[in-house]
Amino acid sequence: MTNLHESQPTVFVLDFGAQYAQLIARRVREAKVYSEIVPHDISVEELSRRKPDALILSGGPASVYAEGAPRMDPAIFGMGIPILGFCYGMQLMALELGGDVPKTDIGEYGFAELTVVASKSRLLEGVPETSQCWMSHRDSVGTAPEGFTVTARTAITAVASMEDPERKLFATQFHPEVAHTEFGQEIIKRFLHDVAGIPPVWTMVNIIDEVTERVREQVGSDRVICGLSGGVDSSVVAALLHRAIGDQLTCVFVDHGMLRLDEATQVVRTFRDQFRIDLIHVSAEDRYLSLLAGVTDPELKRRIIGEEFWKVFFEEATRLEGVKWLAQGTLYPDVIESGSKTAAKIKSHHNLIPFPEGVHFDLIEPLKALFKDEVRAVGAELGLPDEIVHRQPFPGPGLAVRIIGDITHEKLEILRKADAIVREEILEWDRDRTVWQYFAVLPDIRSVGVMGDERTYGHPIIIRAVSSADAMTADWARLPHDLLAKMSNRIINEVEGINRVAYDVTSKPPGTIEWE
Ligand code: XMP
Repeated sequence: MTNLHESQPTVFVLDFGAQYAQLIARRVREAKVYSEIVPHDISVEELSRRKPDALILSGGPASVYAEGAPRMDPAIFGMGIPILGFCYGMQLMALELGGDVPKTDIGEYGFAELTVVASKSRLLEGVPETSQCWMSHRDSVGTAPEGFTVTARTAITAVASMEDPERKLFATQFHPEVAHTEFGQEIIKRFLHDVAGIPPVWTMVNIIDEVTERVREQVGSDRVICGLSGGVDSSVVAALLHRAIGDQLTCVFVDHGMLRLDEATQVVRTFRDQFRIDLIHVSAEDRYLSLLAGVTDPELKRRIIGEEFWKVFFEEATRLEGVKWLAQGTLYPDVIESGSKTAAKIKSHHNLIPFPEGVHFDLIEPLKALFKDEVRAVGAELGLPDEIVHRQPFPGPGLAVRIIGDITHEKLEILRKADAIVREEILEWDRDRTVWQYFAVLPDIRSVGVMGDERTYGHPIIIRAVSSADAMTADWARLPHDLLAKMSNRIINEVEGINRVAYDVTSKPPGTIEWE
């Protein structure tokens, strides 16, 4: 294993199994220092070889005494690398270096008042005498190891932070990476920039330059192919590769006809006209519709669309001569997850490209060190339009999952028009993009209505709008009644075939975000 960005000053986050490791890695990057997550049992030899500039030990299980509690090689504390331990990481540091961690039954969870007790602290300099911090632990350090100074406490935890600046070892029982810790990010920055002496150089421009250089090195004068979907990840891959290797890149845009209004046009306009990328636009709506005729089962729809995508893609890809590489928009969370045993199955499946017999390309994954928000920032920096950079999550099979029942060209047209109205109106009201996702759904039912003097028998449109942080859970967005009324009026007046509009007021769980 090598560092993903070798020329960058790098911080390793040792992952003790807490959900906080990714958050810590992101906070470090927000402080403009490149970070990677590594397993907690990384060896001294590997650390000597990969030379991180500092280490952060993440939180972990409730207790260092728990059965199978993860440990690290204690020799790492003697390597002279600046180390900052959080929560479980602090308890391990104390235990390995001769302090004690008494077993207790009283935990401390949630907000706590942090009091700085040391007159001078390298790590907490600038943190006021009292501030708010976030705790989530049962055991805690009773006596700090020799050489350490206790620098802060809370009402329950006597050693809320400790440090031995001589040996460059620092630790906090609270979680500075959590936004609830008032001076958390300042503490992280102080550790990185002042204590460890790492300059804040991981910026967008820097990322782009570095990725560009790596891609050039990797592909030399070979040709590269990239599948474009109109989504953020593949769009940023295309823009980045184009910057790196220009004409050596060909993009294939498989347009399955299930995209939203004007999306296909926008992909072509952006990549062919603006970026002048060699773009093959395959308009395959008819081909897809004949395969999908009469299909109502959602899983089957997904399978047909997925398989056909690769078929069309490889038909085009193999027609080109001398292509050696296939570019893919794998992101850092995919890489982290495929590294952990439990998630390996899901993600390896995700990355398995069904090469037809006799066909093979080497994979190039220029975004594999980046988090989603960094990918968006790179996209914006490269000049991709807002509609692409801030695109909401959109299923690969597109509107096919938002048409319940069989799919026809007419239904697609109806849904596209209604969906465009929903997006236009909500964006106008939600300019700061606080709503996670919103769209229209066309269910497979009809009902009676009346328009003018005439009885109608039309489809309803369901509006779905949710707030969420990660799509794992979601709540229906509390849209103003006036906004709902406006969308309803517009949809019924402007979209032929629709005579009723409903708003979905189901959270996730028990519902999902998509219908299907
Ligand atoms: P559900 O409906 O399961 O959706 O609550 C969770 C999130 O995943 C998005 N989604 C997809 N995203 N390819 C994607 O990239 C897909 O096939 C897909 N299906 C669902 C959905 O829009 C929501 O944000």
